[in-house]
Amino acid sequence: RWWMRLKVSVSFIKNKYNDVKKTIEAINYTSADYIHVDIMDGKFVEDKNYDINEVALFLRENVKPLDVHLMCCDLEKYIVEYADLMPKFITFHLEATDKVNEMIDMIHSYGIKCGISIKPNTSVKELLPYLNKIELVLVMSVEPGKGGQKFMPIAIDKINELRKLNKNIIISIDGGINDETVRLVNTDMVVSGSYVCMSDNFEEKINKLKKNIG
Ligand code: DX5
Ligand code: ZN
Repeated sequence: RWWMRLKVSVSFIKNKYNDVKKTIEAINYTSADYIHVDIMDGKFVEDKNYDINEVALFLRENVKPLDVHLMCCDLEKYIVEYADLMPKFITFHLEATDKVNEMIDMIHSYGIKCGISIKPNTSVKELLPYLNKIELVLVMSVEPGKGGQKFMPIAIDKINELRKLNKNIIISIDGGINDETVRLVNTDMVVSGSYVCMSDNFEEKINKLKKNIG
């Protein structure tokens, strides 16, 4: 995949400003490809963070395409809400629903690309029935729910397994990505949060991530 530049999607939940609006503004001045919007419902994961009105306010002056990551149950509600922001991707968790096909169709009905995410203990095999229908797979390299956790190597094999299938699908990874761990995975896209947003120079960190491929 050397001919394709690694895409970097920046998660703002942990940031040095302790201020989401400021952080998003700072990301807008960088070469980040996407803003990764982590939504936690207090049910699928323990923490509950923002509601849609807050997020819409944070993003009012944003110019970057959005990559929404729903760590939520009750997906019908969240998909309707977040589709309104016209994101490039909406990703939900395979573990969060029994109605996977319906959720895919629902996201597509808005003209939005669909991603499915798997937690560290979920096998790639469980994704197989859906891979021809979706545009992105998000492999979690930490337990979803918090920023700033340590990268779990179990994700490396999953990425390789997905690669071997050679599907026309974007492979992304989320959790503990920095200039070291990015070298361990051959993905099309990485999500990075604290490595970028807790640093003094967002652009420098993003460039380090991009240079570590190939
Ligand atoms: C984890 C979130 C991630 C997280 C990434 O629950 O889905 O997007 O914020 O942050 P870092 O890069 O700090 O692990
Ligand atoms: Zn995320």
